[in-house]
Amino acid sequence: MVVSLSRRGAVEPFHAMDILAEANRLKAKGLPVVSMAVGQPSDPAPAGVREAATIALKAGRIGYTDALGLAGLRKAIAAHYGEHYGLDVSPERIAVTTGSSAAFNLAFLAMFDPGDRVAIAAPGYPAYRNIMAALGIDIAEIELDGAAYLHAEHLQAAHREKPLKGVLFASPANPTGAVIPAGDLEALVKTAQELGIAVISDEIYHRLAYAAPDTTALSFGADVTVINSFSKYYCMTGWRIGWMVLPQELVRPVERIAQSLYISPPELSQIAAIEAFKATAELEAVKARYAWNRELLIACRNSALRLPRRWTAPFTPSATSPGTPMTAWRLRAGCWPRRMWRRRPAAISIRCRAIARCAFPTPAATTTWSRRWRVSNAG
Ligand SMILES: Cc1ncc(COP(=O)(O)O)c(C=O)c1O
Repeated sequence: MVVSLSRRGAVEPFHAMDILAEANRLKAKGLPVVSMAVGQPSDPAPAGVREAATIALKAGRIGYTDALGLAGLRKAIAAHYGEHYGLDVSPERIAVTTGSSAAFNLAFLAMFDPGDRVAIAAPGYPAYRNIMAALGIDIAEIELDGAAYLHAEHLQAAHREKPLKGVLFASPANPTGAVIPAGDLEALVKTAQELGIAVISDEIYHRLAYAAPDTTALSFGADVTVINSFSKYYCMTGWRIGWMVLPQELVRPVERIAQSLYISPPELSQIAAIEAFKATAELEAVKARYAWNRELLIACRNSALRLPRRWTAPFTPSATSPGTPMTAWRLRAGCWPRRMWRRRPAAISIRCRAIARCAFPTPAATTTWSRRWRVSNAG
């Protein structure tokens, strides 16, 4: 028997997904589990989205679409840039993707070659590092060292050390929740342009910030690649549908790669997603509920809440600002419930144990701690 294993397959696991799987295994055995592994809304997709999907299913055939997505959805996404940001973006520059996760894959493949050096902030969304590692990209992790977000100076210093081909950042960021203010975002993008560094801006948490307005990196240059998704604000995680706004020069390379990697994003989700932009009233009501959860979480932090005795360490807030549905908390190692600690998948690393992220899209009533429950957590 010959089994060939590539080095790519040895990529670090996405620990949150491992823990989600463990939580699901425990649930399947009938154990009561509060799964906090992945950040996702507990609300369903808006009614209009579900209705459009139902009608499409009843009508029958769901097929392939253009690799870059349905014309109607690309148009709706382009219109969203006009309505929400006051920007004129041509539908031609929109690529619809299978969640933003596929967009990262496509962007990295179209923009970088193996060995190219690309910067990301640490802490950051772990999948960036894992996808880049699997693609052979040389990852420059920029430690924020107490700064709330990536600044132009961080980029200059990393580029001086060894030239960068690209930089990827998220604002609002996961796991810190930090929002890059418009002035600093402009400085970051302009510095990247001056240094010849291509910018990818992950804007998946736009429309969910409380303390700052949304500013898209696109406002500072048409050469920026923006990645976004219907997963978070639009409550459509399981529909696996996202998008990119591409510089004109990248449209055809992305299309060529997407044709063979994915053929097309799922048509049913695309038809439904067109309706998502019409559901603002419904989605703002969901966001208002998160605001209540956020207030509760901040109040708990401010009153130095101690978790139940099994959680042996107190949470202490990190240096970042709680501007979005995610608030980062530093967690001393060893704070998992002892039973869970023993059960933890072997792959969980020190890095994973050192930082926990609290997301608050679930109604507070259902997140009440109970000693009887096993709690899964990941950061
Ligand atoms: C910052 C960030 N980017 C991208 C994603 C991936 O989202 P999706 O593939 O569902 O669009 C996530 C998921 O949690 C995230 O937190």
